[in-house]
Amino acid sequence: MERVTGIVPVYRCRLDASVYTKFIPNILRDHSRFGYEVGNSFPIAQYLDDLYQSFFDVADREFGPFELSSRNIRTCWGYVTNKDFYKGGIHHHIRSSTLNAVFYLHVPETTTDREGSISFYDDARDEIFTYKPVTGDLLIFPNYLLHQPHQSFTDDFRISINMEIIAEGLRSDRSGSTPWVTSSWSPERTCTHERQPIEVPSYRVDSHPFSTP
Ligand SMILES: [Fe+2]
Repeated sequence: MERVTGIVPVYRCRLDASVYTKFIPNILRDHSRFGYEVGNSFPIAQYLDDLYQSFFDVADREFGPFELSSRNIRTCWGYVTNKDFYKGGIHHHIRSSTLNAVFYLHVPETTTDREGSISFYDDARDEIFTYKPVTGDLLIFPNYLLHQPHQSFTDDFRISINMEIIAEGLRSDRSGSTPWVTSSWSPERTCTHERQPIEVPSYRVDSHPFSTP
């Protein structure tokens, strides 16, 4: 895990994307099934639970140990875009997470680095840092950090997976040297995380407050 830049608290590690590429047909099927032609994110159920666990293990090791909130859910959110399907929007994840993460399952080759990148913004919504992910990148950043993905004008799909952690006793810290500070737990306290089955959501993904990872 490394901090990508000193400008914003965005951390990166690399996962083996080939482990999950077998699920791309499922993701594209779900993308179609949920009918989000413009690129809204959609919930992904059990078949990516191992990805969520990998994300959780990395985050818990680097920034934990966490005591998960009862509001924490292990749902992954798919976001699929290309030249025909795209919906952007500067947003944060304050209402739904403590830590936010994006895993890039597939990033197509583009003619410019701007295409398919993710930008981060200050409170005035001025763009302050832009990162072009590669396939296998896992970015982790605090809930308040404003961001927006950019469209790739390719036939090939850019596929990213959004995941979140809601931890008790942990809050984002805009001023400190680390992006999160603890208030109630000690390092000796063991993580109480337990694997939970993911229920297939029956609601429209519009109910997810932030739609563009
Ligand atoms: Fe997002």
